[in-house]
Amino acid sequence: MNPIRKVSALCALAYAAMMLVQPAQAQARRDLLGDKTAFIDDLMKQMTMDEKIGQLRLVSIGPDMPAKKLADEIAAGRVGGTFNSVTRADNRPLQEGAERSRLKIPIFFAYDVVHGHRTTFPIPLGLASTWNLDTVALAMRTSANEAAADGIDMTFAPMVDISRDPRWGRTSEGFGEDPWLVSRIAETAVRALQGESKPIAHDHVMASVKHFALYGAVEGGRDYNVVNMDPQRMYNDYLPPYRAAVDAGAGAVMVALNSINGVPASSNTWLLQDLLRKQWGFKGLTVSDHGAITELVNHGVARDEREAAQLAIHAGTDMSMADQVYLGQLPGLMQSGRVSMQELDQAVREILGAKYDMGLFQDPFARIGQAAGDPADVNAENRLHRDAARKVAQEAMVLLENRHAALPLKKAGTIALVGPLADSHIDMLGSWSGAGVDKQTVTLRQGVQDAVGERARVIYARGANITDDKRIVDYLNFMNWDAPEVVQDKRSPQAMIDEAVKAAQHADVVVVAVGESRGMSHEASSRTSLSIPDSQMALLKALKATGKPLVLVLMNGRPLDLNWAREHASAILETWFTGTEGGHAIADVLFGDVNPSGKLPITFPRSVGQVPAYYNHARLGRPFTPGKPGNYTSQYFEEPNGPLYPFGYGLSYTDFSLSDVSLSQATMRADGHVDAVVTVKNTGRRAGATVVQLYISDIAASVVRPVKELKDFRKVMLQPGEQQEVRFTIDAKALKFYNARLEHVAEPGEFQVQVGLDSEQVKKAAFTLE
Ligand code: NOJ
Repeated sequence: MNPIRKVSALCALAYAAMMLVQPAQAQARRDLLGDKTAFIDDLMKQMTMDEKIGQLRLVSIGPDMPAKKLADEIAAGRVGGTFNSVTRADNRPLQEGAERSRLKIPIFFAYDVVHGHRTTFPIPLGLASTWNLDTVALAMRTSANEAAADGIDMTFAPMVDISRDPRWGRTSEGFGEDPWLVSRIAETAVRALQGESKPIAHDHVMASVKHFALYGAVEGGRDYNVVNMDPQRMYNDYLPPYRAAVDAGAGAVMVALNSINGVPASSNTWLLQDLLRKQWGFKGLTVSDHGAITELVNHGVARDEREAAQLAIHAGTDMSMADQVYLGQLPGLMQSGRVSMQELDQAVREILGAKYDMGLFQDPFARIGQAAGDPADVNAENRLHRDAARKVAQEAMVLLENRHAALPLKKAGTIALVGPLADSHIDMLGSWSGAGVDKQTVTLRQGVQDAVGERARVIYARGANITDDKRIVDYLNFMNWDAPEVVQDKRSPQAMIDEAVKAAQHADVVVVAVGESRGMSHEASSRTSLSIPDSQMALLKALKATGKPLVLVLMNGRPLDLNWAREHASAILETWFTGTEGGHAIADVLFGDVNPSGKLPITFPRSVGQVPAYYNHARLGRPFTPGKPGNYTSQYFEEPNGPLYPFGYGLSYTDFSLSDVSLSQATMRADGHVDAVVTVKNTGRRAGATVVQLYISDIAASVVRPVKELKDFRKVMLQPGEQQEVRFTIDAKALKFYNARLEHVAEPGEFQVQVGLDSEQVKKAAFTLE
């Protein structure tokens, strides 16, 4: 018998034996609970093949799967976990369904808690703009506590896809372009979501880091497109954040929808076995993204669902989200010997292991609690964490321009508050607002009114629709099933502009909130342009013509083309989408109760034609050099080279100076370190915080290396006139990279240290690695 047929025959025998073992009564042995492996081994011995296959199914409650049907499916042992069922009262009957199943294996409840749960925090791009890991942790911990209090066990977060292409709508959902910054945020988020205890405490949730891998590099920034990438870029730039999340103990990994160099992630054995499990030592659960296993047929790597299921389980995709492929196909695949019991067992073991780590075997109702303790109103005001939301949002804003100290504003006189985003509750929430409720958000209009009280007059005018392009409005409203989100004002564009201009003429200053509706920066929301839509640009130009100071408050989920704004606005405040307390937080900054301290975690290009534009690009043979003729250098001749606003950039209401860098020594031993020391001083008249950023550049390496790479940062709060010494310790780890053979090495030679308050204006020094 040839070896393949022999294996098939053995598998078929194992299958037959399995079908005979169907004990009527069985359940997990509580006495083994203290020993994870023994507990799971024992449980698995009692499981039938169908029960095992049932565990692989992650199903969403929804129109096709109403609660009653879902509870029956769970009781029949055909579900491992659910998502999108979000309250204790909804989850309890489902977990009771699991109690009715033969083995009483609890199900888990997952949800997209990406930047908040009941309380919505700024979108991840905003969280990253804080450059403050404690602040990120506060947002994540609070989100976890709120989700756990609603009976959620796992969140599909953090989303750590590096994005260098703002056309991609999911740029909003990630933490920006930099491998080092995103990695630090990834590990911070995982720890804050999961907490320190094992199993995970009842007020925390398991993190499922996503989207593994490289989803942020979809070709052309078009969602769901292919990813093709050379190994060095992959290892040096795109993989580190996932690795950081795994090293921080993320319990689960969500497998991306895209293909990588021709192999879809869900069927990618190299990705899920060799890299994730063998090289990185990941021991947790992998879940497919929504319907991704079925989509292997669309990718053209599987003939049909049967082959799709076979490829996915073979590669190591443990759970299938929102499709029935495993449930429908695995019995036949097992019977024919195409999938081995070992492969099935491996997946089941990961799922049970995750449930063990979530503490569900100890108490399946730990997060669901007793009915008597259910909140009367899940959206009750006292369940929100408004103080935390306001604090985080205050830090998430980036001041891009401030001519003639236009900001902060006085709480006096007359303020014209204009723009389609000035009073839009839904847009405050941003892209993945989970259980956030739009009416509970504070809009900018409310925030400004609360800030000035009776002291100033506020005249509000909407001024424009987000866009007047019906095709776009229809697209955005189609995406949101519950209710149309982009609501058009029926007045003519000119009538709206006229009203806004009139308001501006009566005012001392115009504050205008423009940008994108939240749906424009979302999954499936890729753009070919980065402009502020025409309707809003017409409004801006009309307001500018009044001659009144123009303060732009931007709400958006990706870098936008701000050329006009940069030239014409008195001030530009990038607020992203700020969440539940956004209006208050923005007003805090506008009126100077809070001094802005955010820095860009992503480059703002001058135009969409420059994309991809990112600060840590590779060295070139013919670089463009500022001040020298551009001919035969790498640049576009129609517009200036370089970004509009660089990575790491952001202004304050005060000024800072930075001393030269001094190094503790000129050479470094492989096992030693060099300290880079600078002094940062607040030279202005207000207290304020800034971010001192350390970049390193390898002067000559075995392969082409980036012009610079962020390696550390420190956020420093200083009183007027105060100065502080900042010391960065650089060791060989900070100098390592993956070389042409994918070895992680620090190569001897010269390194340049660059320290700045953004990635461009830097002080330099050099040392040699022996
Ligand atoms: C698809 C998205 O890609 C993923 O990020 C999300 O977690 C799932 N849907 C579940 O909602």
